[in-house]
Amino acid sequence: MKNNNPGLYENAVYRVNPYAEYARIRAQTPLFPTTMPDGTPVLLVTRYADVVLALKDSRLVKNINNARAANRWSRLMQSLFSGSNMLRADPPDHTRLRKLASEAFKPKYIAQMRDSITTTANQLIDRVVARGQMDLIRDFALPLPITVITQMLGVPTSDHAKFHVWSNAIIASGTLSSESPVVGRQVLPLVLYMRKLIAQRRKNPGDDLVSQLITASYDDNKLSDPELISTTILLLIAGHETTVNLIGNGMLALMQHPAQYKWLHQTPGHLPVAIEEMLRFANPVHLVNRYASVDMEIAGVPIARGTHLQLILAAANHDDHWLPDAATFDITRDEAKHMAFSQGIHYCLGAPLARLEGEIAVATLLDRLPQLQMDTTIVDLTWRSTIELRGLKELPVKW
Ligand code: HEM
Repeated sequence: MKNNNPGLYENAVYRVNPYAEYARIRAQTPLFPTTMPDGTPVLLVTRYADVVLALKDSRLVKNINNARAANRWSRLMQSLFSGSNMLRADPPDHTRLRKLASEAFKPKYIAQMRDSITTTANQLIDRVVARGQMDLIRDFALPLPITVITQMLGVPTSDHAKFHVWSNAIIASGTLSSESPVVGRQVLPLVLYMRKLIAQRRKNPGDDLVSQLITASYDDNKLSDPELISTTILLLIAGHETTVNLIGNGMLALMQHPAQYKWLHQTPGHLPVAIEEMLRFANPVHLVNRYASVDMEIAGVPIARGTHLQLILAAANHDDHWLPDAATFDITRDEAKHMAFSQGIHYCLGAPLARLEGEIAVATLLDRLPQLQMDTTIVDLTWRSTIELRGLKELPVKW
């Protein structure tokens, strides 16, 4: 459907600086009505206090079928892909799906990956160090997490590039909403690939995550084949399309603040705290979707059953009512209650992995390329068009 009244997401000012728009909306109203690029109406929640309450409100659901009749594409997606993974499920399905996948993401297992992630990060720098310049996204921020998650899943190295093309196509389709026909089309090759990989691992199990998910059990339950396909695709996409933005957006913020860059270089022990500020300030994921399962109120405003809400994590993270001077990047502040990984039952399962990858990525760049600086101007930067995720298309740097 052609939308004759473009919404916030199509506004050029928003694409360049969403935070200015969020500040305007936050001051103006608790619930801001707009439209998605395909014309569907959404209500945006931007204030920190309202976003926290909404994330913990079980009446706001993720599976659209629990809120209203879904459209044709959504039903197809549901059966093929998104209906069977935890990110789009509500309890009790969510509880079971998350439990079955969570063993592999416990911090103690993730910590064991430190050496292999460090090796990958150094190999990526080895390839470019003599050049004196690179595209930080293409040459480093993207290949690092995709290598980590594909290795975890046990995808052969020869298929890594193909994997990235597919997941990029899903992301590039503009929205991760299961209502979108574009997402449905892009996801098919990945579904077929994962189906084959799962069948292979059933016959010949290894010590990879796919084999682990096949055998995982909880209350005599195991993941069905559609659930396995859906969960592995979720992990693939969630596992690298977000972390690339942490590294890219976070390094952009750091390079724009040379004094903090220098201080961090001299104080590497502070890196874990600095990563939290990069997550808060630079927001790899800008928003999450929810649907009202009943008629209800948010911030005193009546909401009808079936309403599509977008909780803007990035706007909440920049809310001065929660954090003084929130629009300022300051790696010395130790504020862990940010929203970058969401809150409530859908809190990011991969947060320990994302933090570790972010920490190793920044540590490797500081250590190996201490003279790193931007090789472009801020006005020439271009951003990918996805609504939910915010990340740079490229980030030219030199040293
Ligand atoms: C900086 C990187 C990352 C960010 C900012 C991020 C952010 C998020 C957010 C905001 C959610 C919650 C969505 C919601 O409330 O609707 C989420 C969920 C999730 N993330 Fe991450 N994520 C990152 C990295 C990862 C990684 C590396 C993995 C795994 C390999 C991962 C796996 C997941 C999964 C499985 C869920 C669904 C959890 C559930 O629904 O219970 N994420 N992530």
